[in-house]
Order: sequence, then structure tokens, then C-alpha cells
Amino acid sequence: MALRFEVVGRFNRARAARLTLPHFVCQTPLFMPVGTQGTIKGLTNNQLEDIGCQIILGNTYHLALRPGADLIDELGGLHKLMNWKRALLTDSGGFQMVSLLHLADITEKGVTFQSPVDGKRMLLTPEESIQIQNKIGADIIMALDDVVKTTTIGPRVEEAMYRTLRWIDRCLAAHQKPAVQNLFGIVQGGLDPVLRDICLRGLVERNLPGYAIGGLSGGEDKDSFWRVVAQCTAALPEDKPRYVMGVGYPLDIVVCSALGADMYDCVYPTRTARFGTALIPEGVLKLKHKVMASDERPIDPTCSCMVCKNYTRAYIHCLVTKDAMGSQLLSYHNLSYMMRLSRDLHTSIVEGRFPQFVQGFLRAQFPKGD
Ligand code: GUN
Ligand code: ZN
Repeated sequence: MALRFEVVGRFNRARAARLTLPHFVCQTPLFMPVGTQGTIKGLTNNQLEDIGCQIILGNTYHLALRPGADLIDELGGLHKLMNWKRALLTDSGGFQMVSLLHLADITEKGVTFQSPVDGKRMLLTPEESIQIQNKIGADIIMALDDVVKTTTIGPRVEEAMYRTLRWIDRCLAAHQKPAVQNLFGIVQGGLDPVLRDICLRGLVERNLPGYAIGGLSGGEDKDSFWRVVAQCTAALPEDKPRYVMGVGYPLDIVVCSALGADMYDCVYPTRTARFGTALIPEGVLKLKHKVMASDERPIDPTCSCMVCKNYTRAYIHCLVTKDAMGSQLLSYHNLSYMMRLSRDLHTSIVEGRFPQFVQGFLRAQFPKGD
């Protein structure tokens, strides 16, 4: 196992931990920004370090297409290629194919898809996904899973869950670098507690270095989403990290952390930045709005990030949609916000004031109590 997970504070089900990975020691709860082509759009490595980013996500599917796993391997791995000194995580690729390419087709062998590069039909097997991820060299690699939308019902959900369990064994057998890369399993089973339970038992039995909760954030209602997370965190081992994939919004991260989850990733903070939206304690601020044109305040007066220290809403309003700098500054602020949220969750748990933190967070987001 190439990680250490030490819980340093608890409040009911919430935990704060130190997660030691081959390239970096991270603190949880932890938000991981998503980079697709081996970069977080618009931010330099130095900027990511400045805002306290500890681990970033790469994507097997995108990296395998360009520059290609063999080339990354020849160039010494993704850490070296992008000169990123801290931790990296790669997702297995299947989810992205299914969500990005509606042409993807899943069979027992693997995920078949049409290459967006040359249109050829290609097959990504569990073995290949792991082989590619071994070449990329991230600290955490993800098993290839069979993902269905949470809104799917019927036998397909069961088939995908059992296939995910069969595939984890193929992934484990293919994994060549367990001493330096941690293979996480992914719990599937849709919104069905019986299927989730079977998947949980199957994965826990395999004693993996960490576990992810998959198949969420796909349009299900919040009640179902939180119920699945609660069921999974209750069944997963106390001494291993728990990662909720594709989540999320600041509110979801706070709730999932209260339920005992530790890690999150989502394109939301950077994607919404590119559409001119800033994350603030009260919710969101739309920088495109006319009223911003003459607003001389920073995006968030309580934020001490480089953008809030140097620029006004009026200036960002001018840039937004007209110059790349607009989305870069907003991405910087939004990721700073997510990093601050992660740190605040960690320290409030360690210092025994998690409920007060959650209360303050909710009061700012829902001032009328609704
Ligand atoms: N990203 C968001 N959800 C998922 C999931 O269920 N599986 C994988 N592999 N990636 C995800
Ligand atoms: Zn800021």
C-alpha cells in the first residue's frame, strides 16, 4: 500500500485526516481540482501551490489520446512532464467516455468507443486502463467501472454493479506498481441500497488502499444522493480514505464531509468560472451582470486570495467573456474558495467546532433559513 491515512480529528461521523501519498502529504477533507489535458485550465503550477492545492486530477481518457501513455512514460511520467511536484490522481476513463461520447458501448471485455481523433473504434479494457495509469504514474489510480446514470432503473443497474466487481479483480491483477500507486475501487449500485451493499462488501473484502463512491451527481435528488453517501461511508473501513466522485458543489462537500467522506473532485469551480460565476460564502456572484460594471469591491471581501486582493468586480466584469484573463482570475478565486473550504472543514473538525462551522456556512448560504 502506497499511502498512510491518519485520522487527526473527528466530530460524529466527520473526520479530518492526514493522507500521506508518494508525492505529497494532504489534509482531508480535500477538494481536488480537475485538469483534463494535464493542466488546470488557466492556472500555473505555482498558482495552484499558492492557493494550497495538494492534489489534482488527470484524466486517463484524455491523456491517453494526447499526448499518449507511451510518450508520457518515455518522458518520465506525468509528474515530470507537467513539472507538478505534489500529488496526482487519474480517473480510469470509462466514465468520461460514457459521459462525453454517447457512442461508447460497454461489454464484459471493456468500454468500446469511437476515437474522437481518427474515428476508429477502440476498446478500453480494465487491464489497459490500469496499464495506461501505471504509465502516467499518478499517486492514486482508479479502477475501470461500469457506470450507469443514477436515474437508470432495472436490471442494467445490477449488471453494472456486478461487472464493476468483476472488473476490480482484473484491475488488481493488471496493476504493476502497488508499491508506488494506490488503486482505489469504486462503489456502484445506483440508488438501490441492496446493490450498494453487495458492492460495498465485495470491495471491502479486497482490502484496497482507498474507496470511491461512484455513480452520483448525475441528476438524482439530494435526498437519494445523501442517503447513498451515508450508506457507503457507514460501511467503508474507518482507516481508509473515502472519495465521492464528481462532487461537487460547496454545500454537497460540507454535507458529505459531515457524513464521513474525505475527498472530492468536480469541474464545477473552474467551469462556472469560465461562464463568469464566482463562488462566495453567500452562494454565487454573476460577474457578467450589469450591476458589476461599477462595483469597486473585490469578488469576496472576506477572501484573501491574490484576485480579491488586487482586482475589483468592475474590472473582472470588463474582462469576463472578452478576454481569457477574466476566466483565469475567476478560476483562481474559485479554486482558492474551494481550498479555503477544505481547510476550514479540516481545522473546524480538529478544533472541535465543526457544528459551528457548518451552521455558519449554512446561514451564509441560506440567510432566510430556507
Ligand atoms: N466521475 C464521477 N462519477 C464517476 C464514477 O462513477 N466513476 C468514475 N470512474 N468516474 C466518475
Ligand atoms: Zn478571492
